[in-house]
Amino acid sequence: MFLRMTNDLINKKDIYFPNYSGSNENLNSLLNKTSQIICSWFSNSEKYGPFPIDEEFKYHMPTENGNSPEDLFSEIETLMLNSFNPLHPGSLAHLDPPPLIFSILGDLIAAALNNNLLAYELSPSISDLEESLFRWLSKKIGFGDYSGGIAASGGTLSNLNALIAARDNAGLSSDPNAAFLISDEAHSSFIKCAKIMGLHENNLIKVKTDNKGSMDLKYLKKTIKKCSKLNKKIFSIVATLGTTIRGALDPIEGIGEICKNNNIWLHIDGSIGGIFSITNIPINGLKNINCANSITINPQKILGITKTSSILLVSNMEYLKNTFSTGLPYISSKSNFLDRGELGLQGSRPAEVIKLWLGLRFLGIKGIEDILKSSIDKKIYLEKNLNSKKYEIYSGPLHIISFLPKGMNIKDSNSWTQINRIKLLKNNFMLSRPEFKGKYFLRAVMGNYNTSESHIGDLVKILNSI
Ligand SMILES: Cc1ncc(COP(=O)(O)O)c(C=O)c1O
Repeated sequence: MFLRMTNDLINKKDIYFPNYSGSNENLNSLLNKTSQIICSWFSNSEKYGPFPIDEEFKYHMPTENGNSPEDLFSEIETLMLNSFNPLHPGSLAHLDPPPLIFSILGDLIAAALNNNLLAYELSPSISDLEESLFRWLSKKIGFGDYSGGIAASGGTLSNLNALIAARDNAGLSSDPNAAFLISDEAHSSFIKCAKIMGLHENNLIKVKTDNKGSMDLKYLKKTIKKCSKLNKKIFSIVATLGTTIRGALDPIEGIGEICKNNNIWLHIDGSIGGIFSITNIPINGLKNINCANSITINPQKILGITKTSSILLVSNMEYLKNTFSTGLPYISSKSNFLDRGELGLQGSRPAEVIKLWLGLRFLGIKGIEDILKSSIDKKIYLEKNLNSKKYEIYSGPLHIISFLPKGMNIKDSNSWTQINRIKLLKNNFMLSRPEFKGKYFLRAVMGNYNTSESHIGDLVKILNSI
């Protein structure tokens, strides 16, 4: 039907919006066409590789009379052909796995509903769903009856929500000496958080890590003493569960003890490793994390819940309410229900929880464990087969591994990683090139469910011969 549609305005008005009473035949046909294009892009992933080497997407800007569906579909196809493809088995560069099918459907449904998580009256069932799912997740990680959480668009925002609540809870919101601590391998976005919070750069304090990349408790204690001498008031210590470059885990139990003794808010950045704590996968350091006040979990990074999907869980929802609730004077609230826009930085929010809920419901704990375990197994297989005489290798217990030929200085590491990243890309393997310990490394993130042992074997052959 759409193929015969011309660019004249009368016809176009039929498909401005879905039809509220008719059959929606046009929409159905547009959805079918979209579905065909998406499935064809997926099916041809192998042919096109993980990243378009010679990008040739020409952007067209909106015109006076708008464009026809035919024009747009043809442009959508070119856009997709020039996109990064997380589905390709060689897509191993970042924390961006293939999308779960039920999450794709969840995104579509969320867009169709166009409900707004700002307030109950704009999203009744979905506000309830978010509250219930986040309470369920809180209980799964061992938080108590007052716990719960809020979604945000990405790990940075979830961490920021937590830090703002921590500072507010400590009564230090307008204190220029307010400070927080992270490990020296924590994610760079904490610098952004500190800036947004108006903290002096010296009040984001980095604690040394040990040779495994975990926060060193000895240095943590020393740092706390030093802060006290300098009159810096620590409102939070951030422990990372799964560092970005090598998947290291900070020692939660030890940090938790120190936080308790010093009355400091423990925030866990579990953007990468947090999701493991709702499973039975036995990894030391990923259990007993309920000593924290807050934890970020980012299922978009490893499970394949489509972007964005980030969760902040808190041991007591009053923290979020006290920090963020301002009242919504133009909203009719439901009694005994706090509108979800009152619990974090974001006001209007899409119904992202649908794709998370559908993804988790479809997988169940067993399916989640299958995906997480397979990522770790693949990392172990790659690590075992990389030539350890040739490479300096960094990897913790999770699915991330960074490596570089031994003995390289920064200049050599710069050129070696640039040249070989492109060489790998030409062989349909996409790895990333992080800066780490003053040099450049290649990094593989083994969270792609489509990558088989035989793909890893091919990757190893290249890596051991370059
Ligand atoms: C450990 C960690 N924390 C936070 C972030 C920031 O997450 P986002 O990019 O979703 O904001 C990342 C991103 O990779 C990360 O690896």
